[in-house]
Order: sequence, then C-alpha cells, then structure tokens
Amino acid sequence: MLQDRFGRTIDYLRLSVTDRCDLRCSYCLPKGFKGFEEPTNWLSFDEIERLISAFVHLGVRRVRLTGGEPLLRRGLPELCARLTALDPALDLSLTTNGTQLERHAEALAAAGVRRLNVSLDSLRRDCLRAITGSDSLPKIMAGLRAAKAAGFAPIKLNMVPLAGVNDGDIESMVAFCIEQGFVLRLIEAMPMGATGQAARPLPLAPVLARLAERFALSPLTVPLGGGPASYWGSADGRFTLGLITPISQHFCASCNRVRVAVDGTLHLCLGDEASVPLRPLLRAGVGEAELAERLRAAIELKPERHHFNEAPQRVIRFMSMTGG
Ligand code: GTP
Ligand code: 5AD
Ligand code: SF4
Repeated sequence: MLQDRFGRTIDYLRLSVTDRCDLRCSYCLPKGFKGFEEPTNWLSFDEIERLISAFVHLGVRRVRLTGGEPLLRRGLPELCARLTALDPALDLSLTTNGTQLERHAEALAAAGVRRLNVSLDSLRRDCLRAITGSDSLPKIMAGLRAAKAAGFAPIKLNMVPLAGVNDGDIESMVAFCIEQGFVLRLIEAMPMGATGQAARPLPLAPVLARLAERFALSPLTVPLGGGPASYWGSADGRFTLGLITPISQHFCASCNRVRVAVDGTLHLCLGDEASVPLRPLLRAGVGEAELAERLRAAIELKPERHHFNEAPQRVIRFMSMTGG
C-alpha cells in the first residue's frame, strides 16, 4: 500500500498519454502554445505498462488516462488492453474531450475501459467555439452517441462554468443530461499557468442551492467513481449532479491520487509544483524492487494541499500538461 506523510492512501493514478490537444479551452491550454514535449521524451507503451504494473503492485486500483486529449495518442485502445491485462480488477477510465470518440468508443470498450468522463461546457455551438477555439460541438455530439452505443454508462459530462461565459448554460446542460442519462459534473476552474486569468471560477454553492430546490436533490451516499466530486441525486432518480469544488471547498484531506505526465514526471499534487522525474529510472532499467522503493520515496513528497487560493499564483504548469 502507498501511504503519504499525512496518512492518505494513494490508490488512484492519473496518467497523461499526451500533452497535445485538438482543442484550446481557454482555462486549460493557452492559444499559440508551442512548447509540447518531443516524442522521444514520451513514455513508450512498454514504459507505461511497466510503471503501471509497479503502481498496481503497490496497491493502485484505479488508473485514469488523460491528456491533453488522450485519443490523439496513436494506438490508445491497444495500451488500454495491455493495462487491463495487468490486473482484471483494475478500474481503467478515460477523460476525453470527445472529439475523437466516434472512431474509438467501441475499441475502448472492447479494451476494458470501464468509465468515460467527457468535457462539455455548452450546448450552444458558438459558445463552445468561443471556449474551445474551434467548432467542436458536432464532433463531440457524435462522440457521445458512439460512447452510449458502445455501452458506457453512466457517462459523466465535465462542465467548467465560467462567469459571464457559460454560466447561463447550466440549466440546458441539466435538461440534456436528464434526457441522455448522463451525470452532470460542475467544476470550479483552477488557476494554472498562463490560463490562470481565463479561469474565473463560478462559486458552485448558489448553483447547488438553485438546482437542489428545483430537482429535490439529496446527497448520494454511494460515490460514483474514485474522484473528488460530491454527488447529489434527484428524488425521481433521473438526475445526478456532481460538484468539484477545489477553490470554495477543497478536498485535499481525502486525496487519493498522484499524476504522471507524458514525459514520465510524477506530479504529486495538481496545485503544487512538487514532482519527481521517473523516465530516467525506467530508461536506466532499474529493477522491480528499486522502482517500488523510488515510488514509495516519491510519495513522501506529496504536499498536504494545493495553493490555488494563494496570491500570487504559484502553479506554473497549465492543466493540459497533467490532464486535470
Ligand atoms: P472519477 O471520479 O474517477 O470519475 O474521476 P475524476 O472526477 O477524478 O476525473 P476527471 O478527469 O473527470 O476530473 C474532473 C475534474 O476534477 C477536473 O477538472 C480535474 O482537474 C479535477 N480533479 C480531479 N482530481 C483532482 C484533484 O486531485 N485535485 C483537484 N484540485 N482537482 C481534481
Ligand atoms: N480548472 C478546472 N478544470 C479544468 N479542466 C481543464 N482545465 C481546468 C481548470 N483550469 C477540466 C476539463 C476536463 C478535466 C480533465 O479538467 O474540463 O474535463
Ligand atoms: Fe490532491 Fe492536490 Fe488535488 Fe488537493 S489539489 S485533492 S492534494 S491533488
């Protein structure tokens, strides 16, 4: 078992398979950014498999593949199949922007991916174009249809409400989620890197109060997945809402996760720059016992909590580097 200095058990690994993305969401990846990792620095599938195997031996039970946009990494379903073959009990999941799902949903399901989270900030085509930098809505809708047809359920939609941009779209997202059987998750934008100014988080407490009254929401006792969201369900069971509130009510005391970036850097917290480079170890061919020891030592560096609420902004990396 992996335990940090604060007694938290680390059993959830988020692994970014690429830092590239076909979209440029204002709060995630700065427009015109060119500093992407060189392919020679990407962990290979063999290296990823070896690393995840080491983490699984140390008690990791959930692995979420992220990006950038993970489906831009060629052969991703093949990697998924290799990871699920390591441990049939592994909860393998994917967070995607949905634009490539139409082509890949079936292969992902066949490879043993259990859960899908899809980012979607508005159902208005122009609004989504303004947020994502391109006309992404039709492709995402086709992707969601394909994911449903491939049997993923429940699919969670991640929406980042930004004041004055898409905060008026929450009600229509609720209606869409009820109609389609999706779980709606509202996420407070976190200030990261050069996107920090774009991220004006909408406080979610008033939104919850409004939706709770309208849909007679009550807290769900069984969590949906292993992440930091708190969940609420409508009395008639047709609507499930998740809230992710790193800014107004952080959840660091129950943090269960660390992240690996595409270049093999282990990031110990989303809102802190503590990190350990793992690629040199993997490329030097260290043995299983030493790798496990190094991972245990790295977990000791995990900070108690994030620094998102501190000024000046301390997190230099932006979100697409570590996948959220
Ligand atoms: P499941 O609960 O397993 O479905 O996944 P998840 O909600 O952890 O994953 P997802 O990739 O969909 O993340 C949703 C949002 O939560 C993103 O905006 C993430 O940045 C945010 N998030 C996920 N984990 C953390 C965390 O440890 N700390 C903070 N501050 N935010 C997180
Ligand atoms: N703050 C909060 N969430 C973010 N995401 C990307 N950037 C940010 C940010 N600055 C979300 C995306 C995606 C998830 C992985 O992270 O909407 O759904
Ligand atoms: Fe964990 Fe850091 Fe996220 Fe807090 S901000 S929940 S410590 S990763």
